Amino acid sequence: MSCAATPTCPLRVGSLELPSPVLVAPMVGITDAPFRALCQEMGAGLVTTEMVAAEAVIRHIPAALRLLEFSPEVKPVAAQLVGCDPHAMAEAARICADRGAMVIDANLGCPVKKVVSRGSGATLARDVGATARVLEAMVKAVDVPVTVKMRLGWDAKSINAPELARALQDVGVAMVTVHGRTRAQGYSGRADWDAIACVKAAVAIPVIGSGDVGDPVEIRRDIDNGRVDGVVVARGMLGNYQFLRRAVHFVATGELLPEPTFEQRIAFARRHLEMLIEHYGEARALTIGRKYVAWTIKGCAGAARLRAMVQDLERRPQLEALWDLALEAGVGPQGWYVPVFTSGEG
Ligand SMILES: Cc1cc2nc3c(=O)[nH]c(=O)nc-3n(C[C@H](O)[C@H](O)[C@H](O)COP(=O)(O)O)c2cc1C
Repeated sequence: MSCAATPTCPLRVGSLELPSPVLVAPMVGITDAPFRALCQEMGAGLVTTEMVAAEAVIRHIPAALRLLEFSPEVKPVAAQLVGCDPHAMAEAARICADRGAMVIDANLGCPVKKVVSRGSGATLARDVGATARVLEAMVKAVDVPVTVKMRLGWDAKSINAPELARALQDVGVAMVTVHGRTRAQGYSGRADWDAIACVKAAVAIPVIGSGDVGDPVEIRRDIDNGRVDGVVVARGMLGNYQFLRRAVHFVATGELLPEPTFEQRIAFARRHLEMLIEHYGEARALTIGRKYVAWTIKGCAGAARLRAMVQDLERRPQLEALWDLALEAGVGPQGWYVPVFTSGEG
């Protein structure tokens, strides 16, 4: 039996009890070790890797294995795998569990061409029987909970999320995250939370909602009303890190923390960049970190001038100078910028 997670009824994923029903979504190029550490600090119920190709994992490709480096302090942590071959997905799940992943998630929603053309992601999810075979192999291969993340279906005419979720529950999948859009929709329109609630009504395992998560009050209302057991935060926290903390806190206590001040936002981004430098070294961190700096300074007065400096970020003193200029500039007339994405991998 699942129940909507409340302070008295925690969210359970198989044998694992999560500290909050507000989880962090897998995001390619974002949910690396430093980002996960920040999210855990802000109280996330579960953090995860970005999707990693199972075939690359079983062939021990170094770039894939680097995505699967887990620090023992950052937990609970999931590894997300993408693939369509039961043996490869099972073997990759074993490798992830051996490396410290406490949950193994299968990506059944990725809409991008290079994934769907190989029969994985949203393509695999079109075939309920084939998907169930893959997940059954994964469940049998590991002792940790196996979960999935899916879309509503391929397109409006082929919504199969409730049927798919039921079939996966039957083979032992412990939790389902549903992005309330079809593959055909990409990231257009609004996510359909009524359709996500239909998946919740179809299964007893926890169902987590995804899509346009950006309001702590809505999150708590959907959980309290039993429409979902939890949510995953994705674009809502890019350039606006503390959204996660405010959501976790509101769901746990009903108290809405104030929006962070301009100085607090800059201080948080600054610390994130420090963590990236510690993890990757200065040169690589400043390349990876440019997007975070760009999101953070977009709301500043005279942002265009600051943005030009982001392209050239190579050394720490340049970064320090940029933060100082941003603080001097203050927030611009348009207010704080919240990034809008038109694409993603799930
Ligand atoms: C940059 C980016 C990368 C993403 N990468 C993944 C991924 O690796 N695996 C996955 O299942 N979903 C991925 N997604 C989808 C998100 O997990 C989430 O389901 C989607 O963004 C909808 O939530 P939102 O509207 O709150 O952003 C990605 C999304 C973005 C924006």
